[in-house]
Amino acid sequence: MKPNITIDRRQFLKDTAVLGTAIGVAPNLLGAEATSSAFPSGKIRVGEIGCGSVSGSYLPNLTSQPFIEVVSVCDIIVERAKKRAQQFKVPNVYPNIDEMLAGAPFDLLVNTTSMPSHAPVNKKALPAKRHVWSEKPMALEVKDARELMDLAKQNGVHIWPSPTCVTSPQFKFMVETMASGKIGKVTAAHGTYGHGGPGWSGWFYQKGGGSLYDLGVYNVTTFTGLLGPVKEVVGMETIVNATRKVEDQGEVKVEADENTMLIMNHGNGVLSHVQTGFVYFDGERFAGEGRQLFTIDVTGTKGTMHMQGWDWGPSGVDIASQGEAVLETFCKDPGKYNWVGGATYVAHSLLTGEPSLITPEHGLHVLEVMNACHESQRTGRRITVESTFKWPLFG
Ligand SMILES: NC(=O)c1ccc[n+]([C@@H]2O[C@H](COP(=O)([O-])OP(=O)(O)OC[C@H]3O[C@@H](n4cnc5c(N)ncnc54)[C@H](O)[C@@H]3O)[C@@H](O)[C@H]2O)c1
Repeated sequence: MKPNITIDRRQFLKDTAVLGTAIGVAPNLLGAEATSSAFPSGKIRVGEIGCGSVSGSYLPNLTSQPFIEVVSVCDIIVERAKKRAQQFKVPNVYPNIDEMLAGAPFDLLVNTTSMPSHAPVNKKALPAKRHVWSEKPMALEVKDARELMDLAKQNGVHIWPSPTCVTSPQFKFMVETMASGKIGKVTAAHGTYGHGGPGWSGWFYQKGGGSLYDLGVYNVTTFTGLLGPVKEVVGMETIVNATRKVEDQGEVKVEADENTMLIMNHGNGVLSHVQTGFVYFDGERFAGEGRQLFTIDVTGTKGTMHMQGWDWGPSGVDIASQGEAVLETFCKDPGKYNWVGGATYVAHSLLTGEPSLITPEHGLHVLEVMNACHESQRTGRRITVESTFKWPLFG
């Protein structure tokens, strides 16, 4: 299918500038000329693969952007794709990645399949010269993530992995607070993200699933983004339930981590810790307005900083420091940041050529750290991490 959209160029540039602000792009990145020759319609054509739970949150975001046209949806359970197509008025439906790639042309694949399907799907899309936004992790093995990055380079396209947490205003505020010296030298940090576990799909509990890849990944991304690349890792993981009941498969054997503790050494004396699980009481997050659920704590020699809310959807930052030892709340406004806005963010980056704070190098590093945690659990050893990424993220 050919796009039949025409758009006035001046209006388009005006719209994308407004949208840049709307989707949380730093104002100093705006003003770049849109690369209209690469995208003559002035829109990024998107195909989304994986029409399960999270697609129900991605598609309202994608379809409400004037610079995005959702061209196709795909799922191996094709009824799911048909349902999403009907719900969001998407013209083309496919039952597998091969037919999708051979079908209606699109520029950006949004991969919201189950975690074990990410690498195989991404490996088909990149040689077909599609840019890829992949849910996390982009692959289960570091060698596969490296291959994906090589494939992207060879084919002149990009791959970006979820999550989006480094693009929130609260993340940026924490970076700026640390740089200002207000909390002194940062020495330690703690993050937590858990709930009772997904009840809809069995793969979350099987090989290639687990709470660290699904939930802890947000905290690992936040801490590597805030404190820098990790040098070494120690981890412990347990399975609490022998089996779980899920909607798609009935009773499944639990094979992946359900309860995980990860310690990271960022070098220069800085340690951070992430706890994550599918075995956590989660009533607290429904406690209603006014709650101060801290999930990310950063401690320095002169102060301390706590993120309110989850790092994928923060709602403020509380700080106490020398001379102001009572917590004060800052940066309440989430702006237009959206936890499912990552594909929209990179589509905007594609159109304007503006650099993305989310990078595959960072995603690969996060994957290596998570796999080091699994290896530490398996071997009882402390594991060295080899990869790195451009840090600090800003400037
Ligand atoms: N559900 C959430 O709230 C949520 C939030 C944030 C991130 N995520 C991430 O999004 C991804 C999907 O999660 P979910 O909860 O939507 O899972 P899900 O099981 O509900 O949906 C995954 C869908 O992908 C399809 N699929 C699997 N392999 C495929 C393939 N090779 N080709 C085409 N379709 C394929 C499945 O049939 C299923 O419909 C995961 O990486 C998860 O970590 C989910």
